[in-house]
Amino acid sequence: MQQEILHLARDFAAGEIAPYAAQWDRDACFPVAVAHRMGQLGFLGMLIPEEYDGLGLDTTSYLLALEAIANADASTAVLMSVHNSLPTQMLLNFGSDEQKERYLKPMARGELIGAFALSEPEAGSDASSLRCQAVRDGDDWLLTGTKSWVTSGSFADVIMVMARTDSSDARRGSKGISAFIVTPDLTGFHVGKKEDKMGLRASPTVMLNFDGLRVPGANLLGAEGQGFIYAMKSLDNGRLGIAAQALGIAQAALDASLDYAAERKQFGQPIREFQAIQFKLADMGSRITSARALLHMTAAAKDRGESTTMHGSMCKLLASETAMYVTTEAIQIFGGYGYVKDYPVEKLFRDAKITEIYEGTSEVQRIVIARELYARRH
Ligand code: CAA
Repeated sequence: MQQEILHLARDFAAGEIAPYAAQWDRDACFPVAVAHRMGQLGFLGMLIPEEYDGLGLDTTSYLLALEAIANADASTAVLMSVHNSLPTQMLLNFGSDEQKERYLKPMARGELIGAFALSEPEAGSDASSLRCQAVRDGDDWLLTGTKSWVTSGSFADVIMVMARTDSSDARRGSKGISAFIVTPDLTGFHVGKKEDKMGLRASPTVMLNFDGLRVPGANLLGAEGQGFIYAMKSLDNGRLGIAAQALGIAQAALDASLDYAAERKQFGQPIREFQAIQFKLADMGSRITSARALLHMTAAAKDRGESTTMHGSMCKLLASETAMYVTTEAIQIFGGYGYVKDYPVEKLFRDAKITEIYEGTSEVQRIVIARELYARRH
C-alpha cells in the first residue's frame, strides 16, 4: 500500500507539478485547480478516516507522498502539509459531529481547502501572547485583530483561527485562547497583505484582518479556552509534515547534484571523480537518510498512539537543517551555475530556508526537545 501511494504521488508530481513549478515560482502564483486536483487524488484527506470521506492511511504513507510532492515543489507541499495536519486534524480530534459533517468531510474530499491562523505580527515564537480578541455578541462571537503568515490564506475555504476569549482585566495566558472555524464569507473577513517572500513563492502567505468578524457560536471548536492546546497538539503532527517537505527539497538537491557532478567536466574529468565532491555528496546523502529514518520511526510511533512531541520536534529540526545544509552544498557543487535560475538548486535553496522558520523555528524545536528530555527524567 505504501509503495502504491508513493507511486501515485511521484506520478502526480512528475506529470502535474514538476513541469510548472519554476513558472509558479517566477509568477508567485499557485493555481487553486492544482489543490482541487490533489483533493480528487486523495492527497488532502490522507489521515482522515474513511467515515469522514478520507483515505484513513497510516502516517508513513502520508509522509512518503508529501516528500514526493515536495521533491517537485515545496509550495505545493506546504499546502498539503498544512491542510492535512492542522485544520483537518483539529476538526477530527476536537470538532463536533455537525462541524465534521459540514467542514471535515468536504475538506477530506479536497473540495474545501484549509488554513491555520495562529501567528500575529507581535506573536510568532511566543504564540500564547497572541492578541486577536473574540467577544460574545448574542449567539455569535466578534473577532478583532490581525493574523499573519497564513499559508494558503488568500484562497482557503476553512481557516482555523486562534483568538483570545479571556478579557483584558482577567488574562489567562495560554488558557485564554480558543479556536474558531472561520470561513471567508463571514462578515468582517478581510485578506490583507500578501508577503513577497524569498522562497516558497508560489504559496500565498497572507495577513488576515478581522474588524468585528462575526463568527457563529456553532463555529467555536471544542471547549472555550482550549484553543492553544489544540493548536500545539496539531503542530506535533504539522512538524512531521514540514520535516517531510524539507526532505523532499533536500533529496531534489542531492539528485540534481549527482546528475551535475557526473556531467560537468573540469580539469579533464567529471567533477564526481574529485574527492572534494564525493565527500560532499556522501555527507548530503548520509544526512538525508538519517533524518528520513528518524521521521519514519516517529511516524510509526504516532500510529501506535505514542506522543510525538519530542521526536516530532527532532524530526523537524534535523530535516530542516539537513535541507539547508544539502541545498547550500548543492549550490557549491554547481558553482556559478548554482547561483542562477537556469538550474534548479537556486530555487531549492530559497525554498529550504523557511523550513527552519515556520511551524516553530529551529530554536523553538530545541526548547521543546530540551523540555521533553527533562520531563522524561522524572
Ligand atoms: N501538546 C499538548 N499540549 C501542549 C503542547 C503539545 N505539544 N505544547 C504545549 N502544550 C500545553 C502545555 O502543557 C501547557 O498546558 P498547561 O498550562 O496545562 O500545562 C500549555 O500548552 C502552554 O504550554 P507552554 O507553557 O509550553 O507554552 P509557552 O508559552 O512556554 O510556549 C512554545 C511553548 C513551544 C514556545 C510554543 O509557543 C510554540 O510552539 N511556539 C512556536 C509557535 C509555532 O510553531 N507557530 C507556528 C505557526 S503556524 C505555521 O507556521 C503554519 C504554516 O502556515 C506553515
